[in-house]
Amino acid sequence: MRKKIVAGNWKMNNTFQEGIKLVEEIINNEKTKPSNAVLKIIAPPFIHLASISDKLKSATGFASAAQNCHHETAGAYTGEVSAKMIASAGANFIIIGHSERRQYFGETNGVCVKKIDMALKENLIPIYCVGEKLEDRNDNNHFKIVKQQLQEALFHLSLSEFNNIVIAYEPVWAIGTGITATAAQAQEMHLFIRNEISNKYGNKAGAELSILYGGSCNANNAKELFACADVDGGLIGGASLKAADFITIANSF
Ligand code: PGA
Repeated sequence: MRKKIVAGNWKMNNTFQEGIKLVEEIINNEKTKPSNAVLKIIAPPFIHLASISDKLKSATGFASAAQNCHHETAGAYTGEVSAKMIASAGANFIIIGHSERRQYFGETNGVCVKKIDMALKENLIPIYCVGEKLEDRNDNNHFKIVKQQLQEALFHLSLSEFNNIVIAYEPVWAIGTGITATAAQAQEMHLFIRNEISNKYGNKAGAELSILYGGSCNANNAKELFACADVDGGLIGGASLKAADFITIANSF
């Protein structure tokens, strides 16, 4: 079902104690202005996940996410964390294919396929990230790249599997740079993604898909971005590290 979602991707920030303090601030702050219509997702580092998932259980309108998972169930993969473990920690979502994973850890669309399948197997909802680099946009290849990211990582799914997918459009040139896509650029790409999904899975699947925008989305520009017809919320990096900003963004619909 299409939902309004604001997800905070903490990336590799916050010690365990800082993370607990931040999530407490977010929950307390939100109590003063509850917006249950918006699902707020917190994606902390792995070590925070069980404690934060537990804290969020007693708050209304919240869920937790991992930022990544390994694509095998278990085994000799030193330093890795499986989707099964993430589910057992109480999380509900997994961010998959973030551009930082693609850039620094060599994740390909092919690896994303395996991670998406594993997440679905564990009843976790993948937030699958797509987005073009600056050179792709300058060369007018942005639609082609995003289409390929959709086709190669998602289009093996059945319709019922696909119904459990959330997509985040994150132009790489906008992530952590302070440069946001204009509302028109975001809307244009979100509509393109929705149409691609409708072509593959039917109009109902397209209409029910939640598509989040990510890339320097903050308390000042969220309203304009979220007002776009095909933008269903945001995947927020830097601005999710301050409780007040995260809540302002979640209340920007
Ligand atoms: P940013 O990151 O909001 O700091 O640009 C977004 C993301 O990477 O999800």
